[in-house]
Amino acid sequence: MRLPILYLAPMHGVTNRVYRNAFFRHFGGFDAAMAPFIPSANSSDMKATHFKDILADSGARVPVIPQVMSNDAAGFVMTARKVSALGYSEVNWNLGCPYPMIANKQRGAGLLPYPEKIDRFLEKVCSGVDMAISVKLRLGMYDQKEILDLMPILNGYPLLKLIIHARIGTQMYGGDVDLEGFQAALSLSAHPVVYNGDIKDTATFEALRLRFPLVNEWMIGRWALSNPFIASTIRGAALPDDPVGVIHQFHDDLYACYRRVLYGPRHVLDKMKEIWSYLAPSFSGSGTVLKSIGQARTLEAFERTACVVFEEGQWLS
Ligand SMILES: Cc1cc2nc3c(=O)[nH]c(=O)nc-3n(C[C@H](O)[C@H](O)[C@H](O)COP(=O)(O)O)c2cc1C
Repeated sequence: MRLPILYLAPMHGVTNRVYRNAFFRHFGGFDAAMAPFIPSANSSDMKATHFKDILADSGARVPVIPQVMSNDAAGFVMTARKVSALGYSEVNWNLGCPYPMIANKQRGAGLLPYPEKIDRFLEKVCSGVDMAISVKLRLGMYDQKEILDLMPILNGYPLLKLIIHARIGTQMYGGDVDLEGFQAALSLSAHPVVYNGDIKDTATFEALRLRFPLVNEWMIGRWALSNPFIASTIRGAALPDDPVGVIHQFHDDLYACYRRVLYGPRHVLDKMKEIWSYLAPSFSGSGTVLKSIGQARTLEAFERTACVVFEEGQWLS
């Protein structure tokens, strides 16, 4: 069987450069990470800060794929050229974000019901950008059949690949993934397809691999944050003897980085609580863990609580 190719999914506000670099100092198994979206820029906001999450980085241990959010072809082209100048050979177009602030403006998944607009966008972008373009999308915004109308259009452009999150936009991140909808899209695609959505563990991965033997590339988001060993175990590696110890080292590394780069304890605390909202379910007594971390009001209280979890907690994943 072919070795699967695994990507860490983009998660805006979570898998930023600080997180990615810390993650890959401690965990293996992923071939690349997609960076969370940056909005397409116009010439007035082409400053380096707009691209700070993807600036060339000696700390990056796995390749990073930048992602751009846009419904404006000229802005996308301008942004992609800047991304290319930073040394990247691939840019991803976000057609999957379901948040109303984005989708209501016909961006992200909000553009999926408008195949003719996607057609016009890709026509301009594919002739204006001298780098590989991939697209990350859902099955639709309101209906899983939207992707079926879109497929002939996507097939007409030289895209590198499609990453399909097997949900529709109105589901946000809940409800079941729609594997039949994914299969229908897959069978129409002329491009390589990456599967994304609810790969929770090795067992779910193996079941998906059996069901979709033509798929060899997989993207994992929330479940990699809950169980950072997921990619290496999918690849056949054993869990380390002391998984909690490895998580502890990663956690302290990330915490130290956030203390250096974030302004003020409140921001650090909020960031670490978000990290724990993903990590806690992998520990025994996760409800209590989440509650006690959530109650910490100072960094000192947070550190004491995290210490207790690492001393007493059992790794469940
Ligand atoms: C908090 C959060 C932020 C996200 N940000 C992005 C993003 O910037 N770009 C994107 O394409 N998808 C984004 N996603 C979607 C994920 O990349 C992924 O498609 C989704 O979580 C399903 O995969 P999973 O079940 O493995 O988590 C985000 C998801 C979450 C939960």
